[in-house]
Amino acid sequence: MSQRLTINMNNHPVYDIVYEQDFKSLAKELEPFMISEKKLCIITDTRVKGFYADEIYETLKDCCRDIVVYDFPSGEENKNLDTVRNIYAFLIQNKFGRKDMLLALGGGVVGDTTGFVAATYLRGIDFVQIPTTLLAQVDSSIGGKTGVDFDQYKNMVGAFYMPRLVYMNVSTLKTLDDRQYYSGMGEVLKHGLIKNAKFYEWIIDQMYEIHERNLDTLEDMVYKSCTCKKLVVEKDPTEKGERAILNFGHTIGHAIEKAKNFELTHGECVALGCIAAAYISWKRDLLSMDEYYEIRDMFVPFNLPISIEGIDPEEIYALTTSDKKMEGNQLKFILLKKVGKAMIDTTVTKEEIIAGINEIYFTDEDWNE
Ligand code: GLY
Repeated sequence: MSQRLTINMNNHPVYDIVYEQDFKSLAKELEPFMISEKKLCIITDTRVKGFYADEIYETLKDCCRDIVVYDFPSGEENKNLDTVRNIYAFLIQNKFGRKDMLLALGGGVVGDTTGFVAATYLRGIDFVQIPTTLLAQVDSSIGGKTGVDFDQYKNMVGAFYMPRLVYMNVSTLKTLDDRQYYSGMGEVLKHGLIKNAKFYEWIIDQMYEIHERNLDTLEDMVYKSCTCKKLVVEKDPTEKGERAILNFGHTIGHAIEKAKNFELTHGECVALGCIAAAYISWKRDLLSMDEYYEIRDMFVPFNLPISIEGIDPEEIYALTTSDKKMEGNQLKFILLKKVGKAMIDTTVTKEEIIAGINEIYFTDEDWNE
């Protein structure tokens, strides 16, 4: 089908996102950046390299001055300053200059790390995002957040730095294992819930095609999901205000992710966090009871959990207060006013948060009921 979105800031176009079902147009899309005069470095991880690096290398090798590939071991544990340092060393050895370009080929870890290298190497070098996971296509590759983890702190070091282009080949979603694929669905459902009720209904209508990973449906879904995020990041690129609504489900979600030592996927934790936040929204009479239960139950067909065992609600609460989403002593909690409309609230109390956590907490007593 081939679709395109442009991300604008201060009413100026900053970069395009193109939606394709293969890599055939990549060379053409890169032409305007004068790649014939540039050296390119494909930065990827060991898993993704095996699937796509050769194809991209072959597609681009005759269109640029030189092209090299750098890969590092897959996994969140490698999203750190050691990997950044190794990439700097590789770029220096290969004499990359400020006019050359990096291509981030992979999921969120590759995109965030490469983006941070691009933001800082020689005080800034062009980079292009080629996201290959659903999480990266609908979330981390757009909006210009780059960075790495520092010790136990996630995304603690980073920069807002915009790519020159985001090239999405949705057929790459076919090589994701089910758990990673449905993890991305957590963010897709979240985008519908916070920004577009019609899109939320569309996701539910397209459930069968989404399970089948039908390419036209995937392209439409990723495009529509990015449209929700585009509306938010264009208004508030550096998260001074409204961008925080993208954190719906993330306050409690991140806390569960940490408490469970990253055994659950990001999307699974976001789903649980969205349910707890929707529950608080219902208890505040923002949502009706029916709306709450529909939101909760709609995670099930997308293989996402609606309850969790073996947590300590007090510990989860304590972790929410150490989250980056704190402003001074106040937690910026995201609630739903209705399906398709989120709001930032700084008055959510400990009792409400604990009640939200208890709603998703499945205890031994629940078995006996
Ligand atoms: N992932 C949330 C954001 O980009 O702001």
